[in-house]
Amino acid sequence: MKGLIDILDFSTEELDELIETACDIIENPADYSEKCKGKKLATLFYEPSTRTRLSFEAAMYELGGNVIGFSEANSSSSAKGESVADTAKTISCYADIIAMRHPKEGAALVAKNNASIPVINAGDGGHCHPTQTLADLLTIYREKGGFSGLKIGFCGDLKFGRTVHSLINALSRYEDNEVYLISPDELKLPSYVKKDVLVKQNIKYTQTTDLESVIGELDILYMTRVQRERFFNEEDYLRLKDSYILTEKKLEKAKADLSIMHPLPRVNEISVEIDNDSRACYFKQVLNGKYMRMALILKLLEEAEK
Ligand code: NCD
Repeated sequence: MKGLIDILDFSTEELDELIETACDIIENPADYSEKCKGKKLATLFYEPSTRTRLSFEAAMYELGGNVIGFSEANSSSSAKGESVADTAKTISCYADIIAMRHPKEGAALVAKNNASIPVINAGDGGHCHPTQTLADLLTIYREKGGFSGLKIGFCGDLKFGRTVHSLINALSRYEDNEVYLISPDELKLPSYVKKDVLVKQNIKYTQTTDLESVIGELDILYMTRVQRERFFNEEDYLRLKDSYILTEKKLEKAKADLSIMHPLPRVNEISVEIDNDSRACYFKQVLNGKYMRMALILKLLEEAEK
């Protein structure tokens, strides 16, 4: 059964199709309001979430479907020791499609291998988060008109930031992009992403600890939160959490058409004064995420029926 575990599961043509559907949904929402009538989405969230879970649920309701699920591991049989594999088999008896978030890397793949309905990875540990990438891609498309010839800075926790890993994977398939990796030494992009993606695809990248020295180069600045829940000790978190705080002052050197992105939640890495700056795109990403999840649910349910 097809699903979406890693953004590379989809070809660039399939991503283009999703963007096209999402744009059509934005233009003609009424045409889609009954497309999933009688269908159920199960949201299995073993980790906290606001945007991802609620945008999946809103997406399904706007398609005329229904939603079941749980929003914390403790309210499911996982608290009694049930495996992800057994949960996936069980939910396949109740629903038509699953969106799952889990703290362990690879958990969504295990679910997919055991479910008889499509499984969508809504974040697996520090590994990847392909549906945030769908939201990011639609945002980049609407802001920049395409995915090539861009200078993109990723700033903050590049080690545990799963949204960064997935977006780098997606962008690596387009031409002439240049990546700036801005992080403290302890939170650098994992070498498996660097070697398997950036080096393999011959993408020019610069690694630095200093945001201000590169901010003027960038077309997109993708800020991230330091991922407290993935740290082994609180001391390291406290030492690193305020490494980068984006302020209007720092933006003085930035391009006038910079797009400032962030998957959210924000802790304090973007000063709230920037929310009114025309370059801030992070709440646009939130809305785009709902449309792309609508397009994704439609695609996977259509394929499952074939
Ligand atoms: C991200 C995540 O869960 O990885 N949030 C989201 O889904 N928009 C980023 C984060 O938690 O920092």
